[in-house]
Amino acid sequence: MTPEPLEIRRLSYADLPQVIAIERRAFPTPWSLAMFVLELSKPSGICLAAVREGTIVGYLVCSRYERVWHVMNVAVDDRMRREGIATAMLGRLFAEADGPGAQYTLEVRASNAAAMALYEGFGFRHAGLRRGYYHDNHEDAVIMWRVVEGGDGHEWVPDDQRVARRSGA
Ligand SMILES: CC(C)(COP(=O)(O)OP(=O)(O)OC[C@H]1O[C@@H](n2cnc3c(N)ncnc32)[C@H](O)[C@@H]1OP(=O)(O)O)[C@@H](O)C(=O)NCCC(=O)NCCS
Repeated sequence: MTPEPLEIRRLSYADLPQVIAIERRAFPTPWSLAMFVLELSKPSGICLAAVREGTIVGYLVCSRYERVWHVMNVAVDDRMRREGIATAMLGRLFAEADGPGAQYTLEVRASNAAAMALYEGFGFRHAGLRRGYYHDNHEDAVIMWRVVEGGDGHEWVPDDQRVARRSGA
């Protein structure tokens, strides 16, 4: 059976009850409603919803600090994974935010092979660890960067980004 078409649009405050329901099933330490409200209130961020048949099936929260995009949160309804929903959201993010020298970073649990495979598919590369970053189980965070070639060369370049450049991201 052909799946219903997927719409990717901006996330709104009205979506948050559905987002929270997905979030609580997706993460051991879910974000609070207040955290989503704060991110949605930032004018420079990009927050996206994936919608199928009028229902939220995934969301992505990305904030911009100076010249770097921080992918803060990505999750897909646990009944609809592996259907390309996260891929569609990240694709939209990069379609909107990519440009010469664009930089993206994120942290992911070292055990989260699914998410790392997703990000690697978009050119994110490992660039170090934050030891014991997650409070619930003291798990390490893997820091990942994605760098679009072609910047002006004058931007601030952190060490871990240089790793990303060397590995071809
Ligand atoms: C990680 C997550 C967002 C992926 O969403 P998704 O819509 O299922 O991902 P996609 O269908 O777009 O998958 C794209 C690619 O990612 C990789 N991937 C996704 N899930 C995977 C899994 N369970 N195991 C291995 N690779 C996986 C694959 O390379 C996949 O491509 P393929 O299906 O052609 O092999 C989803 O599993 C999720 O919500 N997990 C819980 C929350 C979470 O961990 N978020 C990330 C926090 S950093």
